[in-house]
Amino acid sequence: MTTIVVHPQEKPLVGSVPVPSDKSIGHRALLFASLCEGTSNIKAFSYGEDNVSTANAMRAMGAVIEDVSPARKEGQPGELRVTGTGLYGLKAPAAPLDCGNSGTTMRLLTGILSAQTFASTLIGDASLSRRPMMRVVGPLRSRGAKIEGKPHPTKAGDILPPLQVGPLPDGTYLSALEYESPVASAQIKSALLLSGLFAHGTTYLKEPTLSRDHTERMMHALGVPLRAVGTVVELDPAGWNGVMPAFEIEIPGDASAAAFLVVAAQLVDGSRVTVRGVGTNPTRTGLFEIARLMGGGLEIVPQGEQAGEPIAEINAWRQPLRGMLVGGEVVPRAIDEIPIACALAARAIGTTTIRDAEELRVKESDRIATMATVLRAFGVTCEELPDGLVIEGRESPLAPATIDSRGDHRIAMTAAVLALCASGPTTITDCDCIATSFPRFVGTLRALGARVDVSPSS
Ligand code: S3P
Repeated sequence: MTTIVVHPQEKPLVGSVPVPSDKSIGHRALLFASLCEGTSNIKAFSYGEDNVSTANAMRAMGAVIEDVSPARKEGQPGELRVTGTGLYGLKAPAAPLDCGNSGTTMRLLTGILSAQTFASTLIGDASLSRRPMMRVVGPLRSRGAKIEGKPHPTKAGDILPPLQVGPLPDGTYLSALEYESPVASAQIKSALLLSGLFAHGTTYLKEPTLSRDHTERMMHALGVPLRAVGTVVELDPAGWNGVMPAFEIEIPGDASAAAFLVVAAQLVDGSRVTVRGVGTNPTRTGLFEIARLMGGGLEIVPQGEQAGEPIAEINAWRQPLRGMLVGGEVVPRAIDEIPIACALAARAIGTTTIRDAEELRVKESDRIATMATVLRAFGVTCEELPDGLVIEGRESPLAPATIDSRGDHRIAMTAAVLALCASGPTTITDCDCIATSFPRFVGTLRALGARVDVSPSS
């Protein structure tokens, strides 16, 4: 298990760096390319482990996915060539599909698999095996899907992986679905839209506030008959021939990865960091809005569009931070960035209250509980709420800490950023998980001037 030691940052973080390509868009590019007719090209594929899980699953069902980058080095992005099976060409996998740590892989695949006439099994690692699945299974069952899982030990009616999906009997189809989701979740929305590609009847979905909309954007670009207005989306396949043409995509940089570097710059005196080529889809920029409202130095310089998504260069620097109330519609647009928003709060003047974030309890770890433990270890006063945290900013250096990431990549990276502000070295254990979303995180921090030691896996 990899351990990293982050030293107090005694000089500014300075530099211009890229980030890995967007994990969410990467999953979708692989799924759609695999369901397209012909050969697609995916450029700037990040090789984050979560995306690799999706690639392996689609390979196991007949998509041909090859790396065609001239000479890719370990940890570098690559270019993939994907020859799809067409919408109706997937074949039964020979073994259970291993989704690793990736909730997006499991939930989106469940949507696709629920419409197949073959049976499949979805498995995941220890963390994923604790994550609730009824949120996608319930609505999929209501449109005719056959899906079984392990009963949830504490939440009656919920189920956990492994999931046994299908088969749909030959000659039967998923039916129409009208579903109002109680949570703003792109995983739920995307799983249901993907199942809707195969359904006989309309898929009509509404969510409380808008979650990331990469699936809708990609479906629209591929000619899928879909209409999205505000928080409502409708897919009506009547009259559609089911053909999605092969495509070429260069995946934008991941705003969720950029967030760690932006906040690092906003916490270390004198820093000036530029993150290049970041996807700035408004359903993903909640953290940048929060950081700006807290007073953090931030400039977003638009650089046009890539793959139907806006991209920008982001400049970040340290300015005094003040505590604030974070809640409402910005939360789903910053859902993966709430841990790193806690780091801003820990260094702000006054109190920050985070509400409406109960979804954090069912991420890779219970991120409310885990963040409370991390903040306290650094000497920050905080209180856990059912749906968030109250954090008292601390102006004096943080206490050097020993942190267990609990196998959660975003907790490990948040702890590394907080450690820059500590009065001595901080040890973070169980850091292999960082590779699920940001394989070059340590190298990137070092390129900006941070001192980070890595002790190899044992
Ligand atoms: C994701 C959606 C989010 C996010 C996850 C990626 C996606 O989950 O937390 O990291 O790619 O659709 P929810 O949609 O369940 O909030």
